[in-house]
Amino acid sequence: MTHIKLFSPGPIEVSEKTMRAFSRPMIGHRSKDFQTLNAAIQPGLQELFFTKQPVFVSTSSAWGVMEGALRNLVSKKVLCCMSGAFSDKWFDVAKKCGKQADALQVEWGQPILPEAIEAKLATGEFDAITLIHNETSTGTMNPLTEIAAVMKKFPDVMFIVDCVSSFSGMKIPFDELGIDVMLAGTQKALALPAGAAVFTVSEKAYAKAATIKDRGYYFDFLEFKKNQESDMTPTTPSISHFYALQSKLEDIAAEGLENRYARHLENAKVTRAWVKERGFAFFPKEGYESITLTCVANNKGIDVAKLNSLLKTKHSCVIDGGYGKIKGTSFRISHMGDESTENIKQLLGWIDGCIAEL
Ligand SMILES: Cc1ncc(COP(=O)(O)O)c(C=O)c1O
Repeated sequence: MTHIKLFSPGPIEVSEKTMRAFSRPMIGHRSKDFQTLNAAIQPGLQELFFTKQPVFVSTSSAWGVMEGALRNLVSKKVLCCMSGAFSDKWFDVAKKCGKQADALQVEWGQPILPEAIEAKLATGEFDAITLIHNETSTGTMNPLTEIAAVMKKFPDVMFIVDCVSSFSGMKIPFDELGIDVMLAGTQKALALPAGAAVFTVSEKAYAKAATIKDRGYYFDFLEFKKNQESDMTPTTPSISHFYALQSKLEDIAAEGLENRYARHLENAKVTRAWVKERGFAFFPKEGYESITLTCVANNKGIDVAKLNSLLKTKHSCVIDGGYGKIKGTSFRISHMGDESTENIKQLLGWIDGCIAEL
């Protein structure tokens, strides 16, 4: 099968080094070797989350932890901040879990503003909010620091944040921001195979979870915490993901966090400059563009499906032709993970060449 390099915003390209680690022989999950492996990745994960709390690897995609956070932490009513496909769906998931939920809906591409959250929380109706930091469907990044400042006025409201597609591409300091649950998927900026998620939980959230009886088993945060105390997991995990994470954390340490963040920002800047120079528009409102991917409004009406098929046949790579209700009227270019700025410039050159042939 031809290797098609993915410049769509997750899953993304996984390096050969990571794949080698991912395909190491199995070890027993109740063995000393597993405990050693799990303990070995803790410091690197805590550094990425900027936390002293234990960090967990969940053998589920991000949605498992997103649903789990609702089941562990919502007893009254959750405010779902909605601005795109994934954040809109979180509201539906809350209702499917039998939770009382209210929507703070803005138009796709618009940011969630702290004032709007404050006005809703001031009603006293809510004990949790869900926020997607980087709405991957629209390439819009919400002002997390400003929102976190507002959340500090409501210490009893659980602050659940999906950093699925921003995590490790920029600094998101969990402890300092006062987040209660923060999660990310492995298939985005971490550039690992899909199928696992990483997350951490605040002391406040553990205390809240302890008051909730029907939080289930598979995603019970207290089970994760108890097992992690002996470097174990509640159930048989995807051991391959632990090996791949270990390899990736080595890569991140070798590059240095600041260099990693600077590279992601530079990749975004180069892509944004290309968008402007070619006369395209951004889908997100100006000032709220994502750092890890760029969502381009297809204001020039190019045939995105044809562009992608040319990219595939000529350069063995693909971008993304738009997600959900903005498929075709937008397209997305991922510049996260292991991509160098040179790679991104090369990709943009290939896109130019293919557009000329449309
Ligand atoms: C921001 C965001 N949240 C949640 C998800 C859901 O992730 P998964 O399908 O891996 O559970 C995605 C997937 O792309 C996403 O981009």
